[in-house]
Amino acid sequence: MTCAHSIPEPAAAIAVCPRRAVALPRATRAPHVRGLPLLGSALQILRDPYGWWPRQHRHLGPVFRLTLPIAGRTWIAIAGRDANELLAREGARVFSQVMTYPRAPEVLGTTLHPSFTEGPLQLHLRRQVARGFTRAALQPHLGAIAAQLRAHVERWRPGQRIDVTAETSQMGLDAISLFATGEPLGFDAAIVRRYATVFTGVIAMSWPKALLRVPAVRAASTALDGMIARRLAAHRSGARGDHAPDYFDLVHEGVLPDGEPLPERTRVVFGQIPFKNMGVYAGRVINHLLYQIVHRPEVLARVQPEIDRVFGGGPIGLDELDGMVALRATLAETLRILPVAVALQRTVCEPFTFGGHRFEPGDRVFTPLSVTHFLDEHFPEPLRFDIDRFIDRPAPAPYTYNPFGVGHHACVARSVFEPLALMVVATALARWQLQARYRLRTIVDALPSPWPWHRMRVVAARAA
Ligand code: HEM
Repeated sequence: MTCAHSIPEPAAAIAVCPRRAVALPRATRAPHVRGLPLLGSALQILRDPYGWWPRQHRHLGPVFRLTLPIAGRTWIAIAGRDANELLAREGARVFSQVMTYPRAPEVLGTTLHPSFTEGPLQLHLRRQVARGFTRAALQPHLGAIAAQLRAHVERWRPGQRIDVTAETSQMGLDAISLFATGEPLGFDAAIVRRYATVFTGVIAMSWPKALLRVPAVRAASTALDGMIARRLAAHRSGARGDHAPDYFDLVHEGVLPDGEPLPERTRVVFGQIPFKNMGVYAGRVINHLLYQIVHRPEVLARVQPEIDRVFGGGPIGLDELDGMVALRATLAETLRILPVAVALQRTVCEPFTFGGHRFEPGDRVFTPLSVTHFLDEHFPEPLRFDIDRFIDRPAPAPYTYNPFGVGHHACVARSVFEPLALMVVATALARWQLQARYRLRTIVDALPSPWPWHRMRVVAARAA
């Protein structure tokens, strides 16, 4: 198996003389983390999804093996700054996501998706999607998003105990839906979360495909795709009248590499992206961000004046959001200490060497990008939550802070997600004093997630 898409020239970082490479041990002989017979390291990772990877890196170095009940069972982890650089600079040449996610085309109903393709096709599809997720594309929708979020929190009442997962994901999904389609989600965010989580589990964690046929999951998928197809049709027919162009307009204009229009199923799948990714990744981050502020009086004291200044009634633009230095730093520190994309999966398609080991096509690799978030040399006292790491300090060293991935598969929506996350939490905190008496608990479904039964108390109104 080799990379059909490979770019011929080997890059200096991992090019070695062939004789030396052959002398190196295979990565499949790297130190093996001891685990349970069938489950391997799964239980340990479930218990401590953030701390487990840096611990193994400290004990075993940048290359180690682990066993997991996920396709292939034996995985090789490459961890640390140099591993992240390898993924960023050489990922397009030595790894293939076509090999990593063989179930994706069948489950999606198309082979055309930037996350599950490689080479020139991947670059092309990524461009089609990425041009919809720019700051410029977000700006015209901020007013409608602000109004929707304000109306949402207006329904809360003093004394109420709010379901943090349900509320933050509904607000996040309504916001991204307004951005992408011009309308709020229009149904319960739990429906999107359910489908997006099972989809991720089936594609990436070897969950049984039969889960997609469970009536509640199938209904969720039908509801999501139905909504997307209807809104795409409304965009196409011009029924929406004059409106600021949105992501769905761009999906319509999307083309294949030969200039032909995208097939209809591919349009629906591109339409799923903002919903699925907000459902799986972004909802968790917004939930964590709200917690880190409400639970820490010293953080609240620094972000509240910014929130009151920007969310005090006037129009909110990207410049105003950019000016919320403490709130943005809180988001950055939240993403450092509670990363969502803890470890990414890859499959080797071109031989290379790294960390004194030889990797061969077919090797299954985990790249726990977040290990560097927990190394003292990059983030002193890494377990301390400290927003000043991201205020008036030089940016983290390259490849040490990677919440949105690195390289040619890195997140295309970062510049849209960040302002939306700030808007959701700032809208809630401009209106209400909240209380989070709980200690954050993490569960792992398809990814690490805040425990879904956490509740915050609405203490008192702050402003009408
Ligand atoms: C509005 C919500 C979001 C959207 C629409 C979105 C969209 C995307 C897309 C389309 C990709 C695939 C790019 C490619 O393969 O070429 C991607 C990758 C990624 N996204 Fe996002 N994303 C969102 C939120 C987030 C958040 C909140 C995080 C984490 C903090 C995140 C982390 C990542 C990571 C780590 C990858 C790379 C995965 C890999 O390399 O295997 N995304 N995102």
